[in-house]
Amino acid sequence: MRILPSIFLPGNGTSRSLKCPIIQSPLAGVSDQIFRKFVRRWAPEALLFTEMVNAKSLELGHGEQKVLELLEENGPIGVQLFDHRPDSMVEAAIKAESSGAFLLDINMGCPVRKIATRGGGSALLKDPELAQEIVKKVSKAISIPVTVKIRLGWCEDSSEPVPFALGLQDAGAQLITVHGRTKKQGFAGISNWEAIAKIKKSLDIPVIANGDIKDSKDAIKCLEITNADGIMVGRASMGAPWLVGQIDQEIKNQKAFKTPDAKMKISLTLEHLKLLLQEKGDHGLFIARKHMNWTCRGFEGDASLRHKLVRASIPSDAVKLLEEELLKLN
Ligand SMILES: Cc1cc2nc3c(=O)[nH]c(=O)nc-3n(C[C@H](O)[C@H](O)[C@H](O)COP(=O)(O)O)c2cc1C
Repeated sequence: MRILPSIFLPGNGTSRSLKCPIIQSPLAGVSDQIFRKFVRRWAPEALLFTEMVNAKSLELGHGEQKVLELLEENGPIGVQLFDHRPDSMVEAAIKAESSGAFLLDINMGCPVRKIATRGGGSALLKDPELAQEIVKKVSKAISIPVTVKIRLGWCEDSSEPVPFALGLQDAGAQLITVHGRTKKQGFAGISNWEAIAKIKKSLDIPVIANGDIKDSKDAIKCLEITNADGIMVGRASMGAPWLVGQIDQEIKNQKAFKTPDAKMKISLTLEHLKLLLQEKGDHGLFIARKHMNWTCRGFEGDASLRHKLVRASIPSDAVKLLEEELLKLN
């Protein structure tokens, strides 16, 4: 396995170095401040992302919550924006920069209908000129590095990721992350790491490979195939906030990392639930359900615990269930 050096991004006055080549992906509805706090525990130097932020909501003020606390957090955190209007993106990027964003990422891959039909996210894959205009304007307006996250194209027939990525590089993008699927594929099929390799070969700026990396074996294979400068981990980290740190350590130290056991997973789940309740009141229980369902896996009695947790309709019941489970393991 080759040694992955730090990734240097010159910015437009404010340079940044990514010391850890394993990156936590932006995950709407998941990668909030509390989730990032857990990921950070195992990955002190990794680049983490906010959930994608609608530029318009930042412009109008009501999306600010997602970027307001960045300065309080340790380690590098990128803000990811989506929209199709260059001026709106510029306004939002300026706000994100002043909130403490480590870098500014532009989403050109989100397949969600309500975003793509309005011209944002993956719809920009069909409009290279507009995509480049956005990158150009945003790069000029802020001093931190501007990066872009793309898919391979809108659909297989029209997919020309190399010229698309070259256009973004020319426009000022300083790093490109590629999810090796088209928009049409959604999450079907497998991430095409060979296609990412072709992009990497054609660009001068760093390329991060994304899609279907579940562990360090996948990460090593993906890095070998793509020759990418780093990898980004998405779905596999849901319920496994240690994964980015685990992959980084396993690749660096070449020895297995101790995956959290039942006790650790349950105490993490309890801590996550309590933090959500503290921040969101009773509604925190509804948000916590998916995390509880993802994290409470891979140990004896996990299915029965999940079954009980999903039925707990009062926060104190869910807390009690987890506390009792922990007592049994002591
Ligand atoms: C629940 C969920 C939310 C996501 N939210 C975002 C997002 O806000 N921005 C983004 O660029 N990609 C988002 N993605 C895509 C992931 O970042 C990643 O590109 C994709 O899941 C492929 O990587 P994986 O196979 O490691 O999951 C999301 C994916 C999921 C499953």
